[in-house]
Formats: sequence, C-alpha cells, structure tokens
Amino acid sequence: MRPILSISSLLLATTLVSADDASYDVNAVCTCDQMMRYYGTSNNGLWGGSWWQSAILMASLADISSLDSSYNGTYFDTYSNTYSNAPSFNSYTGFLDDFYDDEGWWGNAWLTVYDLTKNPDYLNLAISIYNDISGGVNTPCGGLYWEKNGGYIASIANELYIALAASLANRVSSDQKQGYLDAATTGWDWFFNIGVVGDDWLVVDGVDNNTCQPTGNKYSYNQGVILTAAVELATATGNSTYLDLAGNIANATTATNGTFADENGVLKDCANDSCDIQGAMFKGPLFRGLRQLQLASPHDNWKDFITTNAKSLWNNALNVTNSECNTGSAFMGPMTGVNEVTQGSALDCLVAAWAVTS
Ligand SMILES: *[C@@H]1O[C@H](CO)[C@@H](O)[C@H](O)[C@H]1NC(C)=O
Ligand SMILES: *[C@@H]1O[C@H](CO)[C@@H](O)[C@H](O)[C@H]1NC(C)=O
Ligand SMILES: *[C@@H]1O[C@H](CO)[C@@H](O)[C@H](O)[C@H]1NC(C)=O
Ligand SMILES: *[C@@H]1O[C@H](CO)[C@@H](O)[C@H](O)[C@H]1NC(C)=O
Ligand SMILES: *[C@@H]1O[C@H](CO)[C@@H](O)[C@H](O)[C@H]1NC(C)=O
Ligand SMILES: *[C@@H]1O[C@H](CO)[C@@H](O)[C@H](O)[C@H]1NC(C)=O
Ligand SMILES: *[C@@H]1O[C@H](CO)[C@@H](O)[C@H](O)[C@H]1NC(C)=O
Repeated sequence: MRPILSISSLLLATTLVSADDASYDVNAVCTCDQMMRYYGTSNNGLWGGSWWQSAILMASLADISSLDSSYNGTYFDTYSNTYSNAPSFNSYTGFLDDFYDDEGWWGNAWLTVYDLTKNPDYLNLAISIYNDISGGVNTPCGGLYWEKNGGYIASIANELYIALAASLANRVSSDQKQGYLDAATTGWDWFFNIGVVGDDWLVVDGVDNNTCQPTGNKYSYNQGVILTAAVELATATGNSTYLDLAGNIANATTATNGTFADENGVLKDCANDSCDIQGAMFKGPLFRGLRQLQLASPHDNWKDFITTNAKSLWNNALNVTNSECNTGSAFMGPMTGVNEVTQGSALDCLVAAWAVTS
C-alpha cells in the first residue's frame, strides 16, 4: 500500500510551531503521517523491517483513528493489508513465533483494531494468538516463559498475556468471559506474588527460572503494559483495587527526578542517543497505559507527565523537513535516530496528550 497524504497534513504548515493543549491533534496527525511513510517500504504489511514493533505501530494507528473519525478513513486499508500480508515475513505460522512477548504484542494489537473496526476476524485472530500463549503458562516458577523453549521468565511476556486475557474477557460474549477472566486474575496474582513489582512500585525485567527470584533492569514498557492490564481487569471485575495498584505504579514511574523521569519530568528513555530500534519502542506502551489509566481514574500526576513529555518531544526532538514531522528517540532531545519506531513512540505520547486533554 502506498501511504497517502491526509488532508489534515496538508493544512499543517502554519500550525506546527506550537506545542500546547490546542495542537496535540495536528502534531499527532503529522507524526502518524510520517510513521505511515515507513509502511510497506521493506516488507508488505509491516513498518520497515520491524516485526513485534509493527504490532504496536498498528495499534497506535488504530488509537489515533478512534479519536478522529475523519482520519480513520485515511489509512483504513492498513489493517486488512497487515492481516493478509505481514505473516509472509514470519517463518512461523500467522502471527505466532518463538517468543511469547511478540505474540502478546500482536494479540493485544488486533484487539485494538477490533475495537476500531468491530470486524470479528480481528477478535478471532486475537483469540487464536491467546490460545497459543496460554498453552505455555506454568513454568516451575509459575507464569510464562519469554521463549517457547523455556529459560528466562520475562515480565513483559506475562504482562501482555494478562492484558490480553483481561481484554478478551471484556470483548467476548458473556458465556465465554469467565475462562479469560480467571486466566487474567491468576496471572495478575502470580505477577504480584513472585516479586517483580518492588516495594518502590517499579517492575523488574523478569524472573530467574532457576531461583524463581526477580531479576533484571527496569524498562518503561514494563511500567506501561501492566497499567493496560489493570484498567481492563477493573472493567471486567468492577474491582477498583486494580486501579489503585496501577496508580501506585504510575506515580512511581512519573515521579520527577526519579528512576524514569528527569528533573524536568521528561522520560529518560534513550537519553544521549542510547537506544536501538528495540529500546526506542519501549516508551510507546508506557504512554498508552498512562492514557488508559488517566481516562479510567484521572490524576494530575499522570496527566501532567503525559503533556510535559508531549511538549518536550515537540520542542526538542522534532525535525520538520518538507512538512514531514520526524520525531527522535529521546523526548528531551536532541532529535536523533529517526525511524518507524521513534515515530510510533512519539505518536503514542501525542495521542495520549490529545486524549487526556480533549
Ligand atoms: C472507522 O471506519 C470504519 C470503516 O469505515 C468504520 O466501520 C468504523 O466505525 C470507524 N470507526 C470510527 C471510530 O470512526
Ligand atoms: C533454566 O533455563 C536454562 C536455559 O534455558 C536451562 O538450561 C535450565 O535447565 C532451566 N532451569 C530450570 C530449573 O528449568
Ligand atoms: C480486588 O482485587 C484485589 C487484587 O487482586 C484482591 O486482593 C481483592 O480481594 C479483590 N476484591 C474483591 C472484592 O474481589
Ligand atoms: C499518587 O500520588 C499522589 C500525590 O502526588 C497521591 O495523592 C495519590 O494517592 C498517589 N497514589 C495513587 C494511587 O493515586
Ligand atoms: C535529583 O535527585 C538526586 C538524587 O537522586 C539529587 O542529588 C538531586 O539534587 C535531585 N535534583 C533535583 C533538581 O531535585
Ligand atoms: C546524558 O549525558 C549527560 C552528559 O554526560 C549526563 O549528564 C546525563 O545524566 C545523561 N543522561 C542520562 C539520562 O543518562
Ligand atoms: C533535519 O532533517 C533533514 C533531512 O533529513 C536533515 O538534512 C537535517 O540535518 C536535520 N536537522 C537536524 C537539526 O537534525
């Protein structure tokens, strides 16, 4: 598919300079148009050569399209094109591979596309991905391995599985809900009991499969996907405890001059050009989770963090060339390392700012 220029982006030239509550929409549209220029360039149905990140970028497109019904039509063919063509760039079957987190990204992304389109093919695809993932639950430490052939137990694979199970519980018919809900609550309880969520409400990377002890660094995507899971679980159960726990995680993540935010409240991810095309994606799911939490359970801490980052990105990490909005990997700037993934992470931040201020 050839990306086409949206009507909105043709109107941008005069409005791009500002970054405030009145311009997140045009900034997001310009950032998304630029993200779409990577679509199908190396692999038909994917953005650039990226596999798991393309799932997130597809969900980001669906998210902005759900906010703007006139933009919704601009790239609407993307979902069916990805559905049909992306699997041929995977040496496995469909959207499955050897990594449970890759599968989780795709499963969750197809549900986001289902929310926009209400096309049951996308719901059924998400269910088939879920069925493959759920077959892997129950390592000797509980939970889900990162890779299908065992070894390390990654937090991200488990968070995505919990979010997918809870999201399915909210979307399948009522007679099918309970199995997904049981899987989600069991997964959630395991996740909190195994110790990956510290007393500081920061999530470590995973669990050592030999010792069953939490281990590893702290990454922004692990702070974000668990928020999505919490919002879906709160919806499915009516139990607001999930939102309270998510609020503690969001507070810890957004704390100024903390582990994740610098002294100006800007996310430190990718500072000093430190990210590759994997790490540059991590912040997208954080802004997605914060947006969902803010809409379900508003708090100025999170709203201010979202808008502060959207403004910093626009003021410090943007290069507009020929009306194309190139967004860099570090939101405090300078603009470096632009690719499809940096466009997608910036889009998640701008969409979050748009959604929580409109
Ligand atoms: C997006 O467009 C599709 C196709 O026209 C339509 O079915 C769907 O309802 C639209 N969604 C929104 C949120 O505008
Ligand atoms: C943990 O994973 C490693 C690497 O895959 C494997 O060699 C080891 O047998 C595993 N240990 C357990 C207890 O499953
Ligand atoms: C709500 O969820 C929390 C966290 O899982 C749990 O401890 C609590 O028992 C639940 N409350 C009810 C009324 O089910
Ligand atoms: C988050 O921090 C604010 C203070 O900044 C506090 O009022 C709130 O109770 C904290 N926790 C949650 C879950 O919102
Ligand atoms: C940020 O935190 C460090 C300690 O982690 C402290 O030394 C420094 O003064 C703080 N900076 C600001 C601006 O609060
Ligand atoms: C980036 O580099 C500067 C200069 O070396 C340093 O002061 C700063 O702490 C670094 N930022 C991060 C988040 O690592
Ligand atoms: C902005 O992008 C253009 C085109 O890629 C490039 O020539 C220029 O050097 C960039 N400017 C900055 C400040 O990065």
